[in-house]
Amino acid sequence: VFANIVRAPEDPILGVTVAYNKDSSPHKLNLGVGAYRTEEGKPLVLNVVRRAEQMLVNDSSRVKEYLPIVGLADFNKLSAKLIFGADSPAIQENRVTTVQCLSGTGSLRVGAEFLARHYHQLVIYIPNPTWGNHTKIFGLAGLSVKAYRYYDPATRGLDFQGLLEDLGAAPSGSIVLLHACAHNPTGVDPTIEQWEQIRQLMRSKGLLPFFDSAYQGFASGSLDADAGSVRMFVADGGECLAAQSYAKNMGLYGERVGALSMVCKTADVASRVESQLKLVIRPMYSNPPIHGASIVATILKDRDMYNEWTVELKAMADRIISMRQKLFDALSARGTPGDWSHIIKQIGMFTFTGLNTEQVAFMTKEYHIYMTSDGRISMAGLSSRTVPLLADAIHAAVTR
Ligand code: LMR
Repeated sequence: VFANIVRAPEDPILGVTVAYNKDSSPHKLNLGVGAYRTEEGKPLVLNVVRRAEQMLVNDSSRVKEYLPIVGLADFNKLSAKLIFGADSPAIQENRVTTVQCLSGTGSLRVGAEFLARHYHQLVIYIPNPTWGNHTKIFGLAGLSVKAYRYYDPATRGLDFQGLLEDLGAAPSGSIVLLHACAHNPTGVDPTIEQWEQIRQLMRSKGLLPFFDSAYQGFASGSLDADAGSVRMFVADGGECLAAQSYAKNMGLYGERVGALSMVCKTADVASRVESQLKLVIRPMYSNPPIHGASIVATILKDRDMYNEWTVELKAMADRIISMRQKLFDALSARGTPGDWSHIIKQIGMFTFTGLNTEQVAFMTKEYHIYMTSDGRISMAGLSSRTVPLLADAIHAAVTR
């Protein structure tokens, strides 16, 4: 009965790792998936995460019972505080409902399913370009996905005028997906002043903000600064959704730990929204896993551990920033044609190099360097040792 199944293509991002794993070259380098690597090119488990895990293992009172449908209560409360700020009026007024979900993807999907069932406007605008999974997440949940202009290839920066025009022309009530910081794949974020203009436009048109916050702490090294866009929208008293991931900022990739928060107008609305979120979650995966959320809650609720986390997070962010400078310097030293200043201007985990599909394919074939075909490279996968290899490959690709 399954004989006619057509083979599906690999995922455009995770498929890069599949191809990388098959390559037997000792020089191979994976700059595809956004996953942090040390200077030695190894995955990193934060010390504070190891410490939290040890505490959890040693605590013999811990059991393996089911969590509630909405997840671990402490984790939810602390996650809301982390993104909205400890003194957020929305939290104090109990207008926020937060549910633990399967990392960023799961949080976006639960939010999307909720909106498809309960929100009056089924159109969502996503930036062009955006993380490849967004289109599928929202489309499969039953929303109609449209794009708004975001990136200008000519300046390798923000197409702010295009963004304002497209959101200005969106039907009233449309949902708008916003990357809270460190836009994936471009590394291009609006300035604070531009965020404020976006906020005013969206509120005047009744557009509903849905934030994807996958890199809090990774863009600037500051958890508060990287939540600035979200807090600006919450401060005006309006509604919004926010999906949080702890994959990158706590290095908890495989633990799949994240949260969806919905900011509502009143506490009563928030509690009714939560009751409906439970109906979305229960038939999908019943209730979320306990381990990752317990690690996060342990760290967020202890001042020392929290501080230790911020130091480790800043070290990751700083290493990425130093890789930007090193790569830029290496290309300058080689006299590689073109303006590469966007490498140091863009922020977060990725550089959107501007390399085209053929150049990417050439670099993979000849230099065993793997990246997504749109020319995005994960700066977090680079090290001082591998920067010269990448610079040689880019130089060869653009001069051949
Ligand atoms: C990425 O964009 O590389 C990450 O968000 C990982 C993923 O799941 O795609």
